[in-house]
Amino acid sequence: MDAEKNTNAGDIGRFNVWGVQADGDVSQRNRRARIVKAITLTFLFTGASIGVYAQPGNPASGTALTAKAAQPTRQWVTPPAGDVQKGAALYQDRCTACHAIDSNKTGPAHRGVMGRRVGGLAGYTYSVELARSRLRWTPQTLNVWLEDPEELVAGQRMGFQVEDPQQRADLIAYLATLK
Ligand code: HEC
Repeated sequence: MDAEKNTNAGDIGRFNVWGVQADGDVSQRNRRARIVKAITLTFLFTGASIGVYAQPGNPASGTALTAKAAQPTRQWVTPPAGDVQKGAALYQDRCTACHAIDSNKTGPAHRGVMGRRVGGLAGYTYSVELARSRLRWTPQTLNVWLEDPEELVAGQRMGFQVEDPQQRADLIAYLATLK
């Protein structure tokens, strides 16, 4: 009869997981088991929703990586018209720490860059990734490069970005004059 009573107490406890009732061993054990289960479920759920399980092996992220590597559907954006004067000033300000027009520094010389093969200036040692890329410098590729070089060629070596779209357009207009 006592055992029966304890079981009932445990049943009541089911609706009272966080409650104060502690009617004997069975109730206690059941409650502990339920709490452990609740915590485990919360963990699994939270993990799934914050992407703990979304590792590169996951088909979704795998597709993203492949798509980026092959770039079959990249949408090229033509930059707006740029101001050559402003571009020249921006170039002096932002680029000349690493670049010059007619000589290689940390980065390659820029004369003739528009239309040139990406990573294609003889006499400058590019990153393997840039040298191997099969792209050409156009207003569109330069626009992506200046916004985020890594987005254009992953593994490249230029650690510099120009956030402002109009400033990129001005720089591109200026680079186009360096023939
Ligand atoms: C901190 C140094 C640094 C700064 C600042 C910098 N660059 Fe570069 N840039 C590099 C390096 C290094 C490379 C070569 C990257 C490689 O080989 O992967 C490069 C490559 C380039 C290339 C590719 C040229 C080619 O021959 O393929 C262009 C275009 C370029 N930079 C434009 C710019 C412009 C425009 C600015 C200023 C807004 C700028 N960079 C600022 C370091 C820099």
